Amino acid sequence: MDRHLLFPLFGLALLAAACSGREKSEMRVTGLRCEYLVDPVGIGEPQPRLSWVLESARRGQKQSAYRVLVSSSREKLGRDEGDLWDSGKVSGDQTAQIVYGGQAPASGQACFWKACAWDADGVQTEFSPAASWSMGLLQGSDWKGDWIGMTAGVTESGDLGKNLELPPGPPPAWLRKEFSVDKPVSRAVLYVTARGIIELYLNGGRVGRDLFAPEWTDYRRRIQYRAYDVTGLVAQGANAFGVVLADGWYAGYLAWYEKRANYGDRTSALLQMEVEFQDGTRQTVVSDGSWRCAAGPILSADFLLGESYDARREMPGWDSAGFADSGWNQVAVVGRPEVPLVAQPSQPVQVTEEIEPVAVFQPKPGVYVFDLGQNIAGWASLKVNGRAGDKVVLRYAERLNSDSTIYTTNLRKARATDTYVLKGGGEEVYQPRFTFHGFQYVELTGYPGVPDRRAVTGCVVHSDTPPVGSFQCSNPMVNRLWRNIVRSQRGNFISIPTDCPQRDERLGWMGDAQIFIRTATYNEDVAAFFNKWMYDVQDGQSDQGAYSEISPRFPPMTEHYGAAGWADAGIIVPWTVYLVYGDTRIIERHYESMTRWLDYVLKANPDLLRLNERGSDYGDWLSIAADTPKEILATAYWAYDARLMSRMAQAIGRSQDSQKYENMFEGIRAAFQKAYVAADGRILGDTQTAYLLALYMDLLPENLRANAGEHLVESIRQKDWHLSTGFLGVRHLNPVLTGLGRTDIAYRLLGNETFPSWLYPIVNGATSIWERWDGWTKEKGFQDPGMNSFNHYSLGSVGEWLFADVAGIDLDPGEPGYKSIIIRPCPGGGLTEAGAEYESIRGKIGSRWTLSGDSLELAVTIPANTRATVYFPCPENASVTESGIEAAKAGGVTPLGRQGDRTVFRVESGDYLFKSAAAL
Ligand code: BGC
Repeated sequence: MDRHLLFPLFGLALLAAACSGREKSEMRVTGLRCEYLVDPVGIGEPQPRLSWVLESARRGQKQSAYRVLVSSSREKLGRDEGDLWDSGKVSGDQTAQIVYGGQAPASGQACFWKACAWDADGVQTEFSPAASWSMGLLQGSDWKGDWIGMTAGVTESGDLGKNLELPPGPPPAWLRKEFSVDKPVSRAVLYVTARGIIELYLNGGRVGRDLFAPEWTDYRRRIQYRAYDVTGLVAQGANAFGVVLADGWYAGYLAWYEKRANYGDRTSALLQMEVEFQDGTRQTVVSDGSWRCAAGPILSADFLLGESYDARREMPGWDSAGFADSGWNQVAVVGRPEVPLVAQPSQPVQVTEEIEPVAVFQPKPGVYVFDLGQNIAGWASLKVNGRAGDKVVLRYAERLNSDSTIYTTNLRKARATDTYVLKGGGEEVYQPRFTFHGFQYVELTGYPGVPDRRAVTGCVVHSDTPPVGSFQCSNPMVNRLWRNIVRSQRGNFISIPTDCPQRDERLGWMGDAQIFIRTATYNEDVAAFFNKWMYDVQDGQSDQGAYSEISPRFPPMTEHYGAAGWADAGIIVPWTVYLVYGDTRIIERHYESMTRWLDYVLKANPDLLRLNERGSDYGDWLSIAADTPKEILATAYWAYDARLMSRMAQAIGRSQDSQKYENMFEGIRAAFQKAYVAADGRILGDTQTAYLLALYMDLLPENLRANAGEHLVESIRQKDWHLSTGFLGVRHLNPVLTGLGRTDIAYRLLGNETFPSWLYPIVNGATSIWERWDGWTKEKGFQDPGMNSFNHYSLGSVGEWLFADVAGIDLDPGEPGYKSIIIRPCPGGGLTEAGAEYESIRGKIGSRWTLSGDSLELAVTIPANTRATVYFPCPENASVTESGIEAAKAGGVTPLGRQGDRTVFRVESGDYLFKSAAAL
């Protein structure tokens, strides 16, 4: 080559290096998570899935490639040494569900990682800040210790239970052990599991903030463990462990069975601490027969009954070294469970908020009632000053009687009572830890003196699923509805999705969960939560293949298999997790179980109508004088299952299966039409729910959809423009109306303040979603107390419509995980503005519209590396601008023409402001 030419080429090369090498992209890699969790400790997945979020100020910014480094130490990661895994530069825009591809990490291995990306121009970003995860104890044989519990004889609860209909179990066990550590520690991780629920202490400090660990599973199938990094808590020299072990779900009362010890009567715990020293040696401390036990200040603790605490029995220093435990007994070593110990894959239950009461009053002398102003699940923290032996009784309720005393009849057999006996000598603060209640009101009796408002704080307890969504519009009643939906979600996502937190029930009812899951995803990040619960669902499947109606199951339960709309959660939940988070592993994990379910239904119903094996057959539970024939509902759900299964099979590359299930869907659909659909589109039963299911689940021939839509509207009109749907139908009501082009009716239903409607309970004072529209009314008072929860999220399933259609943020099922976003707001209902923000797995999405006079403005935020289709509602020839210029000419915007009454644009990532002077 001509030497003269080399110089300019060299200059170019330098320039290129400046652009792509040293000059970094303005795009940032943030929000690193592993298995949906931030820096999780002790995970069970040998090939965990990693994700991050991209941030950029540039429209249309994208990731063209990425690189992940995983190192065995922070230092190595700092030097960019991915000794565990260096993915190399991988082309593509994937930012979530990236499967760790390095060597299989060993039990306990700490992994540090970071990622960088190349942007749309191929320019590299800075590396993200470092993140981490560590492995749990992956093999049963990794556990070296013994399961330990209270020695027999120390377990009596004295006369506590006398004369009580449901006597409490024995007091929680207090377990302790001293050990010494002789060298400087570089890392210490504590692994712990229990049959029961525990709180952990190390050297006088609480380990973690988790409640009810290791949470609820069917203990006959699997038991979870948790892991904590306790490096900062271990001392050089003498150390002490303290563990408090209570009944929880394992040994306490469950549901209406009036029986404790459902999984077993003896609680026990297993601990193992792995200490790594700076000199490279190790020490393992485990639970064994040398630990000591005693009963402590907690006299009894049970989820349904409440907790009793006598502060005079406290044992200061019990969880520190040097405590005189000669009066303590040796623990009993008990048998190991035969089932696998698995890392808890979900966020722990924690106190997530504290609430000051809005009022306190005295309905009777000496009886004080605190009003939190909102219905929550959790407990009260009590502040009190008095003499040793003074006894304060806290009772909890969701509502008041007309004389302002608390109303507890709807709690059924749940006693929901905490008792605190003072030790005296100054201000005492007490909160229970091994129970929870559903309540807005706290009644105190026995309080020494007159309590002021600060005597009680409401502690909100729920699985710490991170908030991701917010909705707001110009109608304050609708905003309150959304807040009530979120409150009931939090009040019921306690380890598992429950129906209600207050009465003697609190079960993983699967119909409620499947109806609500899509709404739940908009409010909080529930990916890990439902990944965990699907194991409970799979564990609950019968040997014949029937899914349960309740998960986890527990021993006294023999029936409850197969009900339509309940058992089908086994298919609908993985499908929804796949759609929202792009999670294909949940499909793979449960694929075999899902096929067994579909085989089971088919075997029982060879004629393709679901007439048999419908378990408890609840139908459209709590519908309003509109019974949808149960076989219609069941057949519709079956067809829907088959369709979803076909799509899930496709998603994981099983095309043959996909075809098989699509054929199954077609067969059921044909049988459905033949048996239930008349020539004029009328469906047997003629209920709103029948039309909703048939329309939503695509069960009608194309030419009858419009007719069926008209019958649906007619049914609503006949009810004076009111709904008559139950738990199942209500989810599809407004979305289907919008799909039919009748958002006007959807808004009419939303705006109704008369029975039955979403706002009717709010008119009657609801601060949460009620089980029944008329749980309490000014005219009639309370509904049937046998089934009248004031914290039941099912009827709150309209939340998805608020986000997807009112605000207009939805996903594109063709590209799950919000890779392609749909922005399709539906102004109407007299609202002047509405909007939502949603932190998707790919970053923050926003959509907010404002109507003023004739002009409509729509502000849209689309995260980097994604794109959206914006359906802007306006008249055909209205001009649409984006940030002041003709939209079609704006950067990042591609016009796609008209669709119905909307002008459609494809937009790249970024912030946009669309405006039209003429609204529809
Ligand atoms: C629960 C419901 C559940 C139902 C089954 C009730 O007791 O509270 O939410 O889905 O039973 O129909």
